Amino acid sequence: MSREFDRAYWEEQHSGHIAARADDPDPQLVAELDRLAPGTALDAGCGRGAEACWLAARGWRVTAVDIATAALRRARERAGTFGAEVTGRISWVEADLTGWVPEEESYDLVTSHYVHPAGSREVLFRRLAAAVAPGGTLLVVGHHPSDSHSAARASGPQVHFTAEEIAADLDPRRWEIVVAETRTRSVAEHADHAEHAGNHGHEGRGNHEGNGIVLRDTVLRARKRT
Ligand SMILES: C[S@@+](CC[C@H](N)C(=O)[O-])C[C@H]1O[C@@H](n2cnc3c(N)ncnc32)[C@H](O)[C@@H]1O
Repeated sequence: MSREFDRAYWEEQHSGHIAARADDPDPQLVAELDRLAPGTALDAGCGRGAEACWLAARGWRVTAVDIATAALRRARERAGTFGAEVTGRISWVEADLTGWVPEEESYDLVTSHYVHPAGSREVLFRRLAAAVAPGGTLLVVGHHPSDSHSAARASGPQVHFTAEEIAADLDPRRWEIVVAETRTRSVAEHADHAEHAGNHGHEGRGNHEGNGIVLRDTVLRARKRT
């Protein structure tokens, strides 16, 4: 197993440049889920909680899991700014997702953004897919292999993958692929937003366009058949 993306690595990241990142939720999450009726959600690798808070503010009951204590500390602080109603809908869990057994049998939504674990990405994503309830949604967002920005900081099959690779692991008898795309997103080029390659700001050698940097994301959205 690679030690590169273990707990110590992520604690360090969250004490360093991830801590300086912008607070907006991932635009791929917003684009995909804005119109989905709320239910139960698992945010796998929630980081500083931007996506969990966004979901909870829209009525989702969120279980937000991360391996890093530092991430969850920041996430709790962040959630506190949303008020009791939102905070009350989020359950923060410190755990390694590769071994964690979900509290709920299944979730209406399982979402994961730029998570690259120590060990096998395939094993992690299979676990996440198994946690989706019949009729529920799986959303996986990651770095596309053509994304030079993220490649400047971290690389390997855990970090870069295509939507087709994720989809290939989902049994078509049980899953309907709704979105399997490579998408670009632009972020402003401000040094004070420098952050981990996995997040929503910038750092490293991205493709520059005007005053911003263009990132290339993998977006996989699938619905589990009933
Ligand atoms: C690149 S960050 C992305 C955070 C957040 N999803 C976002 O988009 O801003 C990846 C997150 O996954 C977490 N993570 C990595 N491996 C994990 C594992 N095995 N179990 C739980 N969380 C993990 C890290 O601590 C980190 O917060």
